[in-house]
Amino acid sequence: MTVRRLGTCLSAALLVSAVLPVSVRADTIDEKAAVCSSCHGEKGVPTEKNIPIIWGQQEGYLYLQLRDFKKGARKNEIMNGIAESLEKDDMKELAAYFAAKSWPNLDQASASDADVAAAKTANSAVGCSACHLDHFQGTGTVPRLSGQSHEYLTKTLAEFRSGERANNPGMTSLAQATPEPDLKAMEAYLAGL
Ligand code: HEC
Ligand code: HEC
Repeated sequence: MTVRRLGTCLSAALLVSAVLPVSVRADTIDEKAAVCSSCHGEKGVPTEKNIPIIWGQQEGYLYLQLRDFKKGARKNEIMNGIAESLEKDDMKELAAYFAAKSWPNLDQASASDADVAAAKTANSAVGCSACHLDHFQGTGTVPRLSGQSHEYLTKTLAEFRSGERANNPGMTSLAQATPEPDLKAMEAYLAGL
């Protein structure tokens, strides 16, 4: 009993001392993140279908994309403008902030049996999951794909293929080497996971 009460006091004290400095920092990052939420969503569900989920995305990947948008290595009018005003520390902080959130469920349709079969065959041939990992959860600078917005996956793979998204030559070659119907099946499969 006494031990348990002591434990409660101790954790309450730890909580207070831990929460105070964190909440001071949280105000700043919350302000920085608020602008992002107007498009990427208050609860992580993007406001438009062609805007990607960033909640729960890999931290290393989020940072690299912000850096690439700032450098102009990845072109997108909206994100280039936003990243321009960010310093390296802001980008690191925002990447850590969004990576720590939980991935939202967009309730997208599961892929048809035909798309699942075609996607599995394409994955065996190209080895997407060798980098994106078995459940397409990504790791480090390799993004999570499972449950990502279908429209966004279609848009960005088409842009890798056309060379419009040129910040990763490896993904460009892979998208060009994969027949378009296989990519369509992969997009439906990944969105439905
Ligand atoms: C006005 C809408 C808008 C705002 C505000 C916005 N974004 Fe974006 N963001 C987009 C769109 C659209 C894309 C997709 C760009 C593309 O298709 O290449 C995107 C892409 C991204 C990506 C790439 C994700 C991926 O899967 O490759 C990251 C990271 C990102 N945004 C982070 C942020 C952060 C952090 C903020 C706030 C500082 C922010 N965005 C604010 C619209 C917005
Ligand atoms: C050799 C490792 C590797 C393989 C194999 C690979 N990818 Fe990728 N993929 C990456 C990396 C790294 C990125 C991040 C590129 C960047 O930094 O912009 C990426 C990015 C992507 C994106 C963009 C995600 C986003 O949020 O914008 C999609 C979609 C994608 N890959 C799909 C696939 C598919 C489908 C396959 C199989 C046909 C595949 N990848 C195979 C490494 C790989």
